[in-house]
Amino acid sequence: MRRPVRPFTATVHAYLAHLRQAGFTDAPEPLGLDEQGWEMLSFVPGDVPREPLPPEATGEDVLVALARLIRRLHDAAEGWTPPDDAVWATLPGTEGIPLVDGGAELVGHRDYCPGNVVFRYGLPAALIDFDLARPTTRVYDIANALYWWAPLLDPRDRPPALVEADIPRRAAVFADAYGMSGRQRRDLVPLAERMIHRFHVTSRAAAAADPLFRRLWNGGVKERMPRAEAWIAREGGAVQARVGVSER
Ligand SMILES: Nc1ncnc2c1ncn2[C@@H]1O[C@H](COP(=O)(O)OP(=O)(O)O)[C@@H](O)[C@H]1O
Ligand SMILES: [Mg+2]
Repeated sequence: MRRPVRPFTATVHAYLAHLRQAGFTDAPEPLGLDEQGWEMLSFVPGDVPREPLPPEATGEDVLVALARLIRRLHDAAEGWTPPDDAVWATLPGTEGIPLVDGGAELVGHRDYCPGNVVFRYGLPAALIDFDLARPTTRVYDIANALYWWAPLLDPRDRPPALVEADIPRRAAVFADAYGMSGRQRRDLVPLAERMIHRFHVTSRAAAAADPLFRRLWNGGVKERMPRAEAWIAREGGAVQARVGVSER
């Protein structure tokens, strides 16, 4: 795979190299730059789901496999200190908007949208597109994954197979498969609320700064984000009640 070099490419490659060395091979291998200065990454075999998620990508077995994959990523990432000159991505127009994932524990992927999760034999098997990786917390990365895969969205904005899904149950299945601590379980919903609010603010700002993001905003993000904020404000308590206590 060749992709254009961006300011953060060298930092992300150092991270991907660390992951391999730590035994996590379910991510692209960084292969340096080609003569034209493009980034080179190994091709990760498998299938990436299109949105809306097809029914076969909405089962609890998918949540369990994704949670275990992210747990292995985190365990491999922990202990890596980014270089002093590390550069991380920001979306256009969002430079001044504060992050909600302070208190970094590790470098996480931070963007588990369906297009970044590679399936094999019907289950999540690898992760690609580490463009938004940066220092974060385990619980932020989990909230990001749940946003896309529970999902933490108003029923109108979910894939058809999940319109009537029991989202608190799905979040708890993920929490158990990851092996979330009591502390992480308590922190999850308040953090998810701040994250979703920030998604709203950053997607609006990026739309004002960049035509690609403007197309996404006008193509539905503008309605989806306020609905997601209202949904988590209303249903977050039920998610918290279900996730808050480990079933094991
Ligand atoms: N290393 C890789 N191995 C296999 N497929 C890839 C890889 N990188 C990208 N792809 C494919 O290209 C698509 C877009 O690439 P991605 O890196 O996610 O860029 P972006 O989301 O910024 O467009 C992915 O959804 C996937 O289908
Ligand atoms: Mg992508």
